[in-house]
Amino acid sequence: MLNTILIVDDEESICRNLKRHFKAKGFDVHVANNGKSGIELCQTTPIDMVILDLKLPDVNGLDALKSIKSACPDTGVIIITAHGDVETAVKAMQMQADNFVLKPIDLTALGGMVDKVLDGYRTQPEVFDLKRKVSRLNGSVRLKETYSMVKALSGAIEAKDPFTKGHSYRVSQLSVEIGKRLGLAEKELEVLEFGALLHDIGKIGIREAVLKKPRRLSAVEYAHIQRHTIIGEEIIKPVEIFRPATTILRNHHEHFDGRGYPDGFKGEEINIFARVIAVPDAFDAMTNDRPYRKALKVEEALQEMKRARGTQFDPQIVDIFIENKIYNRYMI
Ligand SMILES: [Fe+2]
Repeated sequence: MLNTILIVDDEESICRNLKRHFKAKGFDVHVANNGKSGIELCQTTPIDMVILDLKLPDVNGLDALKSIKSACPDTGVIIITAHGDVETAVKAMQMQADNFVLKPIDLTALGGMVDKVLDGYRTQPEVFDLKRKVSRLNGSVRLKETYSMVKALSGAIEAKDPFTKGHSYRVSQLSVEIGKRLGLAEKELEVLEFGALLHDIGKIGIREAVLKKPRRLSAVEYAHIQRHTIIGEEIIKPVEIFRPATTILRNHHEHFDGRGYPDGFKGEEINIFARVIAVPDAFDAMTNDRPYRKALKVEEALQEMKRARGTQFDPQIVDIFIENKIYNRYMI
């Protein structure tokens, strides 16, 4: 099927050149000479990609971007901007534009950008979809609404990876129990709870064949799955209210001895929330079936936790977890 591209620019020569270029590349090309008709076209016609000049005669370019993204969130947008106006381009990127190009336009570079954005939409639709949903949360005011959104997001990863069913919820409840014993304040416990519910959300960007592989992962597959920490951070970063939890998503696989990933942080360099979550995360994973192995018994898992006390895990957290029998909460 042809990809449809819309050029929104008031400069005739730019429109003509871009139209010729993308037609030759096999695109179905539409042109709008002002913001209003561009937005209208997006509302009425399926468009895969918009190339949008931020300097328009009738509407503010950023407002046009906002309207386009809310009318068709699945459409990629590349911004055209003048030299010396990079600040606006950065603003546009924060508003979910996919990339920007400076005038005078380098057609080869722009063509490459278009392919890359379209390719990204094709290969990782869930990531883009989530990024969009999450970005709509920006400015969300009520904690309750945020909480139900967090639950919906964590449900999204459980739908993709059935082996994690209930995992994030159990990890969040156990983490809060640990947090209380660490004397964390109410606000901190909230961050810990959100962070734990979302900690594996980045797995939405990991290939299902790798997530569900019933055998040991190859080195390449292991490196791929490790990326869920960084993808998760990227997904929630745009939302101000989630920002305190970004480091939880990024660093929940760090090891106390510095041998974890992605940053190789050591000891107290690792965010305390991430150190807390690491303990129930590992315990819950061990005591439930995984595609590549059967569940361990509680006693066996506890032995593992003790063995990794001070290497993989923060010793203080392991002690709290075991001495207070926090692990018992979900054991029948
Ligand atoms: Fe994880």
